[in-house]
Amino acid sequence: MEVVICRAEEEIGRLGADVVSRLVRTRPEAVLGVATGSSPRPVYAELVARVRAGELDLSGVSTFSLDEYVGLPEGHPASYRTEIRRELTDPAGIPPERVHSPQGSAGDLPAAARAYEKRIAAAGGVDVQLLGIGSDGHIAFNEPGSSLASRTRIKTLTRRTREDNARFFDGDADAVPTHCLTQGLATIMQARHVVLVATGEGKARAVAQLVEGAVSARWPGTVLQWHPHVSVLLDEAAAAGLGLAGYYREAWANKPDWQGL
Ligand code: F6R
Repeated sequence: MEVVICRAEEEIGRLGADVVSRLVRTRPEAVLGVATGSSPRPVYAELVARVRAGELDLSGVSTFSLDEYVGLPEGHPASYRTEIRRELTDPAGIPPERVHSPQGSAGDLPAAARAYEKRIAAAGGVDVQLLGIGSDGHIAFNEPGSSLASRTRIKTLTRRTREDNARFFDGDADAVPTHCLTQGLATIMQARHVVLVATGEGKARAVAQLVEGAVSARWPGTVLQWHPHVSVLLDEAAAAGLGLAGYYREAWANKPDWQGL
C-alpha cells in the first residue's frame, strides 16, 4: 500500500487523473471502477478538464459504479447513477450505454446483484478502481461487520453513514435510503489497481485503521492491505492519525518519476 500525503486537493486530482490517463493511453477501452460522493471529485474534475482540453479521450472506456441506493426512482438527483453521469461520465464523453451501476430499483435485488457481478466479469474486470472511505471505515457500502469475502449484495446502511450522506438529501438523514446494492469486498479486491482518496479530519481515524490497523471486518477498508497494488491519496487532515507519516512522505519524495503510482 502506497500512501501519498498531498498539500492540496488539486494534487490529489492530478495524481488520480494521471493514473487514469496513463492507463487509457495504452488501453483506450479500459474498465474504470468509479466511486460517488465527495472524495473522488477532484479526480473527476481533473479528468473532465483534460478531456475538454483535448489532452485525453475517455470515449472508449466503460465504468462500473460501486454501489446504488435501493428504492430511489431512476433519475433521482441523489441516485449514484445520476451522480456519476453528472460528475464524470457525461462531461467526460463516456457513452451512457457503457456506464454501469447496480440496479437498486430492481424488483429482484439478489438477481440484480448476481447480474452485476457477471457484467463486471464479462467486461474483463476492473483496471483501476477509484474509492473513497466512510468515516466508519466502509469502502463501497461494505459497512463494519461485512464479510471480507463478500460479493455484490444488499446491505443495510449504518445510521452514521446515513447522517454523513444527509447532505445529499437536503440535510435529512431519514430521507437517505436504509439499504443499498453494493459491490462486495472480494469484488473490489479483484480490481487490478485501487486508488483510494480521503480528505478531511473526519476520515483520519478510518484512514489510520485502513493503513496501519489490524485487518478486520470492524474496519472493512483494511482488507486492502492484502491487495498487491493500492495507492492512498490523502490530504494533511485525513493523514493526521498515521504513525508512519514521516516515512510515507520520505518514500514519496524519493520515488523515481518514471515509476508513477
Ligand atoms: C460511494 C461509496 C462510499 C463513499 C464513502 C465516502 O460510491 O462507495 O464508500 O466513497 O461513503 O463518501 P465521501 O467521499 O462523500 O466522503
